[in-house]
Amino acid sequence: MKKHQTIPVITVDGPSGSGKGTISRMLARELGFHFLDSGALYRLLAYAAGQRGIALDDEPALVKLSAELDIRFPADDDSDLVVLGGQDVTSAIRTEQAGRGASLVAALPAVRQALLERQRDFRKAPGLVADGRDMGTVVFPAADAKIFLTASAEERARRRCNQLKELGLEPVFEDILADIKARDERDANRPVAPLRPAPDAERVDTSGLDIPATIERVRNLVKNHLNQ
Ligand code: DC
Repeated sequence: MKKHQTIPVITVDGPSGSGKGTISRMLARELGFHFLDSGALYRLLAYAAGQRGIALDDEPALVKLSAELDIRFPADDDSDLVVLGGQDVTSAIRTEQAGRGASLVAALPAVRQALLERQRDFRKAPGLVADGRDMGTVVFPAADAKIFLTASAEERARRRCNQLKELGLEPVFEDILADIKARDERDANRPVAPLRPAPDAERVDTSGLDIPATIERVRNLVKNHLNQ
């Protein structure tokens, strides 16, 4: 491994449904690294704002709220348990509504700035795998390895529908697809930290790949970078 002065970071960016959540979590577990689900921070903020009656475009109030939130990921990389102010909000922040809210608050520059240091604080020994949209471009621009996962919107909508069905819901494919496209559009075109690969990111299209094939490819790419 590189002779690091600092703690190694691997970034995994991409749109929702690209597989980055599953892949980055598996990678963190394999390497024994910590894990940051940065999307969960935006989801938490939108959820907490909803609870307190704060509008999702009230930037000053959202900035203030983001500094006050008592957020914990008690299980670190082994489950997606999320605790807000002592309350388990793991499922509450995974709804489509929370996702839409997250995308709205994430478009606000001052909100992104307010969450920046909070995200960097996750960098702890022996290393970090950070999952998000701007991990390799903004939050950890000097990361040791950068992965950018993609998949077609249709493939991502199919995956999301399957997830929702597993939760006992009855999703309408066209609605999910429209939602994914709208969110992609917003995430890719916002002026601050838009969703795009870092110039030095390794791109992996997961459309035709299952999870084992994807993790195998990502593992090899990461290994090459860490050994450089
Ligand atoms: O990865 P996710 O679906 O949990 O993310 C929810 C929203 O948060 C997504 O629409 C974009 C936003 N997000 C972001 O702007 N930057 C990040 N690093 C992570 C998520």
